[in-house]
Amino acid sequence: MDDTGIAQKLVEVLHRPDGDLMKRPVHTIGISATGFFKPSPIARNFCVADHFREDKTKVIVRFSNGSGSATVRDGWSDVRGMATRFHLSDGTDTDLIAMTLPEFFSPTPEDFLDFALAAKPKPYKGESPWRKILNLLNLTLPKRDPYPGETISPDEGAIEFADQNAHAQLGVLQAATIGAPVSYVRAAYHAVHTFVITAPDNTRRWVRFSWQPIAGVLRTDPSLPPVDDYLKQELEGRLAAEPARFSLMMVIGEVGDDFNNSARPWPPHRQRVMMGTLTLDAVPKDQEEQNEKLSFNPGLLTEGIEASDDPVLHIRREVYELSSEQRGATPCPFSGS
Ligand code: HEM
Repeated sequence: MDDTGIAQKLVEVLHRPDGDLMKRPVHTIGISATGFFKPSPIARNFCVADHFREDKTKVIVRFSNGSGSATVRDGWSDVRGMATRFHLSDGTDTDLIAMTLPEFFSPTPEDFLDFALAAKPKPYKGESPWRKILNLLNLTLPKRDPYPGETISPDEGAIEFADQNAHAQLGVLQAATIGAPVSYVRAAYHAVHTFVITAPDNTRRWVRFSWQPIAGVLRTDPSLPPVDDYLKQELEGRLAAEPARFSLMMVIGEVGDDFNNSARPWPPHRQRVMMGTLTLDAVPKDQEEQNEKLSFNPGLLTEGIEASDDPVLHIRREVYELSSEQRGATPCPFSGS
């Protein structure tokens, strides 16, 4: 299968039976907020990109639940997304798409297709307490009990796949135990892939970005019954009272680190640079245009930031274009390439 064939198949496979074909096949439920990004004083020494040189860059951010279900289940354990669009001073845009999972499930698009096929939601099969204990003794991840109203399981197939495929184990384990944040702005988000940045002296560095919330990370209490719909109201209420902030952190890779496989972590003692602060202070009223119709794309980069050779990062450009076209969203404005 060529890249276009794989991209088409991926979009098709990701749609869930309880999703909505006119909405995103994953990260279906979300809300956008606006604000600005201010680079740290040292950011411009590392990267010539416009938003690291300008004093202030306007942004729009879309927060989302990772699930492709069209029903709001904020309190269920799920990966969350944070897609940021920087409106650059020359009128173009650049996107940084991140999620609460620090590593992805698969090193290549083909592996991800296998994973997505295996991980398609399946009817929930309960697990007896004895089976849970046996699983723990065997060092196997015990299954979580279904939430009230949960009939299909997103984890069942993924866990079976991870049992057979070592590369998926870290991502699946993290996803299966991730929980729910008390607020979209109280979670850390990772752009996962490696990007290549260029400094003013033309030094190129292989880096990974993540957003750290200034308010700190906090999850809901898993022993309490989950609340279905609170994240949207929480964000609206919070931003009406005071702005929310994130630090943009950048980790610099070293020789021997895997630059082209976002399923593999880097060693924890790499150099970290604070690249700037994001301030969110408003929720746009028109959520149809400013959230549902928006289309972000990880390929929407700008001078000073290039994609690494990670094949998953490359296929995503086509996948997101296709998905946004199928759901009738506003096309993503590519800069140059
Ligand atoms: C081959 C791997 C992947 C595939 C096939 C895929 C597929 C998709 C698709 C089809 C969409 C909906 C796009 C749209 O209709 O606008 C989407 C959205 C999203 N994906 Fe991925 N994805 C992949 C990897 C990733 C990774 C590695 C991340 C984390 C960095 C990620 C985070 C997100 C987020 C946050 C959104 C929501 C964007 C928004 O708010 O519009 N995805 N993905």
